[in-house]
Amino acid sequence: MLNFSFVNTTQIHFGEGQITQLAKSIAPDAKILVVYGGGSIKHNGVYQQVESALSGHSWGEFSGIEPNPSYQTCMAAVEKIKQENYDYILAVGGGSVIDGCKFIAAAAKFDGEPWDILAKGAKVESALPLGVVLTLPATGSESNSFSVVSNKETNDKLPFASPLVQPLFAVLDPNVMASLPIRQLTNGVVDAFVHVMEQYLTYPANGKVQDRFAEGLLLTLMEEGPKLFDEEICVDTRANVMWAATMALNGLIGAGVPQDWSTHMLGHEITALYGLDHAQTLAIILPRMLQAQRAMKREKLLQYAQRVLGIEVQDEEQAINEAIAQTESFFHKVKMKTRFSDYQVTEDVVERVVAQLERHGMTALGEHQAVTLEVSRNVLRASL
Ligand code: NZQ
Ligand code: ZN
Repeated sequence: MLNFSFVNTTQIHFGEGQITQLAKSIAPDAKILVVYGGGSIKHNGVYQQVESALSGHSWGEFSGIEPNPSYQTCMAAVEKIKQENYDYILAVGGGSVIDGCKFIAAAAKFDGEPWDILAKGAKVESALPLGVVLTLPATGSESNSFSVVSNKETNDKLPFASPLVQPLFAVLDPNVMASLPIRQLTNGVVDAFVHVMEQYLTYPANGKVQDRFAEGLLLTLMEEGPKLFDEEICVDTRANVMWAATMALNGLIGAGVPQDWSTHMLGHEITALYGLDHAQTLAIILPRMLQAQRAMKREKLLQYAQRVLGIEVQDEEQAINEAIAQTESFFHKVKMKTRFSDYQVTEDVVERVVAQLERHGMTALGEHQAVTLEVSRNVLRASL
């Protein structure tokens, strides 16, 4: 196992009716900016619950954070914070709203051009405190310190991380999932699944605890994910998917083991250029990335085949083929398409994404830095 330091400081309030916890979780004298997206929270009762929980607080609101939050919209929120002196941010939404709020929290206190936090890795020295009400289980952003923000003018979709933007608390009420469209349920299951794969499916590091946790999360998502689409759905199914998605990227399973993230890096470029949903890009790339890296990932692919998929290994090459095929079938089972052609994205994607990867210095990705531009090119071509 590799050395690691682990802490996760986000307090989780999990379960039905937990939005009421907002009243106690935020200091009574805070001046809160409630930030949300396109308005889904106004139609599913979440806004009303937040409003009622904050009845004793002083607060205002900023709406319009779009999927794949843009730098431009985030900066409009920063402007409002500065003009009206807010000192606390409450993000109410999915990964995009939360990521946007992390950037807003850092940008509001940044001395200089905040875009440098993303483009130049400028250090975040200070940030406004942030709380979260999660409405879409997928990214894990509710209890991690990562954020991904897009600049729509330059086609950049770039990540940053800082412990200062780690949410102080996150409310996870599985009932909020009832209003999610099928497309977002699909996205959530696939994104969480791929987060686990990026941290698990590398090479053996004898991290037995991490492996077994990761396998438990993969199995949970495979067992419970498809049930989200049943007409009769119980709250425990939603709860299990929600908790799995949080656990998939809260730092626990990735501590002390090698990590890959090449699928994500290609995925971000595809979203920046073509606007595909984050999880859609992952489902297109992951099966081909596993194929391309199968020699280096051999032992873990076999472990995954046996322990997660229950494949009896007689011929190892065949078992690996089967494991990759079953992974793609699982995506189909949760209603996700897995080819560029399914989204009318044509061949030009290959060279355009390779050029973006090069521009962003993503020329040696993966746990062995073996995903060169040539490997990425082949993966993209194989995914058409
Ligand atoms: O804008 P609203 O009205 O909120 O509608 C959203 C949006 O249209 C809707 N939605 C959310 N909760 C809903 C709901 N509709 C009905 N009922 C509800 N309860 O869903 C749509 C998509 O929301 P979005 O937040 O964009 O989805 P997701 O949570 O998948 O977030 C994706 C973003 O997170 C980034 C992605 O790159 C992408 O920008 N990621 C963040 C990570 C992190 N911070 O750790 C890691 C991930 O790998 C990922 O990169
Ligand atoms: Zn992701």
